[in-house]
Amino acid sequence: HIEQTITKPILSWYDKHHRDLPWRVSPAERSRGVKPSPYRVWLSEIMLQQTTVQAVRPYFTSFLERWPDVAALAAAKNDDVMSAWAGLGYYSRARNLKKCAEIVVAHHDGRFPDDVIELKKLPGIGDYTAAAVATIAFDRHAAVVDGNIERVVSRLFRLTTPLPALKRDIKTRMSDLTPVERPGDFAQAMMDLGAMVCSPKRPACGVCPVRETCLSAGRDDAEAFPFKPPK
Ligand code: ADE
Repeated sequence: HIEQTITKPILSWYDKHHRDLPWRVSPAERSRGVKPSPYRVWLSEIMLQQTTVQAVRPYFTSFLERWPDVAALAAAKNDDVMSAWAGLGYYSRARNLKKCAEIVVAHHDGRFPDDVIELKKLPGIGDYTAAAVATIAFDRHAAVVDGNIERVVSRLFRLTTPLPALKRDIKTRMSDLTPVERPGDFAQAMMDLGAMVCSPKRPACGVCPVRETCLSAGRDDAEAFPFKPPK
């Protein structure tokens, strides 16, 4: 049911309308067996934690040129990494980035762990980033939830669960929606849908691939979600 009515239409929409971003492998490449390297996925997700896609783009590209793999980054000078990060903000991310690269090289044979629990032991990797890396880089079935996905899910189901239970509810529903095949594309499809269609103000429900199933589109009140209970 939800697989047919929600997951599949969102993946088909993504195949046509996904954003071309330098850290991504396109759905077409993916179907030919190309995989995104865990290093690229990790680096991009750390940069994207508190920073917009547009601001991250040039930094991602120049980091990758300068330090093409985790071993190169682990061997870099701290000062060089910090000055390359200048302008992105939240500098603890850069310090953790460097520490994490060193640990991956020293203790994991230069390869990122492929599951959420091990990923979360690394500096700078919390719930969100662990799920994103496990899903996008390793096709693991983990529920990825960021701000965009929170909004899309709470609109789809018109969630009025009060905080803090809301977070758990959203995660469970995202997990139920996530397909066994292409879980990473699905997470990124939900991010793109949130950024391009299901926007905070004036969502474009008319062009949404799931407008037929979305409970808030049906009631024409998507903007009321994520729901904030009256004070
Ligand atoms: N924001 C965080 N991760 C992202 C990704 N993989 N694609 C687009 N936006 C993102």
